[in-house]
Amino acid sequence: MPAHTFQFSKPLTGTIRVPGDKSISHRALMFASLALGESTIEGLLEGEDVLATAAAMRQLGAQIERGNDGTWRVYGAGVGSLLEPKRALDMGNSGTSTRLLMGLLASNGFSATFTGDASLSGRPMNRVIEPLSQMGASFEASAGGTLPLMLRGALPAVPITYRLPVASAQVKSAVLLAGLNTPGITRVIEPVATRDHTERMLTGFGATVEIGEEDGERLISIHGEADLKPQHVEVPGDPSSAAFFMVAALIVPGSDITIENVGMNATRAGIVHALRQMGGSIEELNTREVGGEPVADLRVRHSALEGADIDPAMAPSMIDEFPVLFVAAVLAKGTTRTHGLEELRVKESDRISVMAKALTLAGARVEEEEDGLTIHGTGGEPLAGTPENAAVETRLDHRIAMSMAVAGLASRDGVSIDDTAPIATSFPTFLGLLETAAQA
Ligand code: S3P
Repeated sequence: MPAHTFQFSKPLTGTIRVPGDKSISHRALMFASLALGESTIEGLLEGEDVLATAAAMRQLGAQIERGNDGTWRVYGAGVGSLLEPKRALDMGNSGTSTRLLMGLLASNGFSATFTGDASLSGRPMNRVIEPLSQMGASFEASAGGTLPLMLRGALPAVPITYRLPVASAQVKSAVLLAGLNTPGITRVIEPVATRDHTERMLTGFGATVEIGEEDGERLISIHGEADLKPQHVEVPGDPSSAAFFMVAALIVPGSDITIENVGMNATRAGIVHALRQMGGSIEELNTREVGGEPVADLRVRHSALEGADIDPAMAPSMIDEFPVLFVAAVLAKGTTRTHGLEELRVKESDRISVMAKALTLAGARVEEEEDGLTIHGTGGEPLAGTPENAAVETRLDHRIAMSMAVAGLASRDGVSIDDTAPIATSFPTFLGLLETAAQA
């Protein structure tokens, strides 16, 4: 467990690039593995979560190689041609790999076992087990519907229409991916829009996907059995990774940083709007499209932040960014209130209670509610920092580690965190980039 103390920082300046989008990287590997022939992927995130997906797709029969120039080549065998894995699929810390692959395998005629680390093994899988069972797959899960679990796919599976009971792109994607190898039309009704990378990318890979609206709800239909064609995928920078540098630049006096090539898909960009609502100076430059996704370079300057009431309707478009938004709120003037964040309790850690504890340890004034945090900001005064011989518990959660690292940059005595290792699941270059930005 590599512990680390993050100290008061010099201004963050210069131009940086964050690694590829995690959600898009998982999907690029999965869909390329289902397309008959050679696909290439540029800008793939080489974090542990995505590498777990790559390893699983290899076990399922895809050939996946990384070229010396960083381009990944994937040779897929076609939808319906995956092979039964000989060993358990080790999903590490990655909920996205697990839930999307459960969907993918639910309509293949074989069994597979999924395992994961202590964090992933505590996370709810019933949310995907339920719709996939309706499609004909069967499951033997650990108590409470958790990993390790065994899935037996159905061939043929039956198409369903499934209304999402929770706003979850992972559940939506699991059902749509099961629909790929299911004869007929599989439908998902989304009362609240979640990230739409699956729909966009499956269309790009040649699947027939229809998006409609019914009574204000989104209706997504996929036609099976689909025939995916190999593609060249360019992965834009991950807005969820960029968020740590946005907040760092906003709270460290004198900062002026440009983060290039950041994905600005509306279903992901909530953090930019929330930070602007708090008075953050974030300029979108050079707006363009990369790999079918809107992208911009973001210039972020130190700003006097103000507390805000964050609209719960924005939660799905910034669901992974709340831990770092809480850090921005801690340095703002006045009170920030967040609600409607029940889903944060079932992420890599319970991000409401773990962040409440971590921020309090670092000297912040925070009240924990059932569905969010209320934060009384310092008005820009540095946080005290963690007491001597005490460290923030990161609980195998990369976003807790990075958020509290950012808090440390605006603290008097520094913020110690118990374990930086989880950062490698999504952002292996985080520590190096932070050092570069604070020295430029
Ligand atoms: C993801 C969806 C979100 C998000 C996760 C990635 C995806 O999870 O938190 O980091 O790639 O589909 P939920 O679907 O559970 O909200």
